[in-house]
Amino acid sequence: MGIDVQKEKLTLGERLPAHVGIIMDGNGRWATKRGMPRAFGHRAGTERLRGIIRLSSDLGIKALSLYAFSTENWKRPKAEVEALFGLFMEYFTNEVEELHANNVRIRMLGDKAGLPANVRTSVIAAEEKTAGNSGLSLNVALNYGSRSETVRAVKKLAEAAALGELDPGKIDEDMLLSSLDTGGLPELDLLIRTGGDQRLSNFLLLQAAYAEFAFVDALWPDFSDELYMDSLRDFAQRNRRFGGLK
Ligand code: FPP
Repeated sequence: MGIDVQKEKLTLGERLPAHVGIIMDGNGRWATKRGMPRAFGHRAGTERLRGIIRLSSDLGIKALSLYAFSTENWKRPKAEVEALFGLFMEYFTNEVEELHANNVRIRMLGDKAGLPANVRTSVIAAEEKTAGNSGLSLNVALNYGSRSETVRAVKKLAEAAALGELDPGKIDEDMLLSSLDTGGLPELDLLIRTGGDQRLSNFLLLQAAYAEFAFVDALWPDFSDELYMDSLRDFAQRNRRFGGLK
């Protein structure tokens, strides 16, 4: 039982992804299958985070980006949105100390302006507290949508151009990518989606240009450390060509 991290590290070697993204889908179905309200699944999903973060950190993955709440999720019933934000508040209040002790750096991806004030305050506090950490970069996508992120990045560049700080003719791919919320993080190598669907749902669209995809049937609360290792081992076997020939 349990995962032999040192052995797995040796086996994966250079083939360890630097940056993993996860679309954590299936909490609602997991709860419904048990005759429970959907919020019960979100709580179980939150509990699964600890193991996945721990394993990512122990393996030496540099960045882990988790899709927690999309710009489209506001359309869900008010009670579910409230339950989710209750969990985010709890998470950013209770887990930060331990993450900080484990040298994890927390960053939020998404539009902070659209968050309830109490959540925004605790997210910013978590970012500030862990800003100096050099271990795993844990990126929580909250009120996140890739298109909205791109618009915010373009606005930043346009504003700099309007102020005369930037020559619009000099805008290039690197500049656009570093203006995204993920600016400064390693290139996304692997994108995992649990829950059986095979779509991106507006998550890290530009960052995923050369990512490998893993679509997993397990519902998020059932995505065990073993299943995560399976996705990582499978990734290590892929032949990535980045548009070249080999
Ligand atoms: C998708 O499942 C999941 C979400 C919309 C929320 C993801 C949130 C968590 C795992 C918990 C909280 C995270 C943090 C960072 C504290 P779904 O509800 O769409 O499931 P379904 O497809 O079965 O309906």
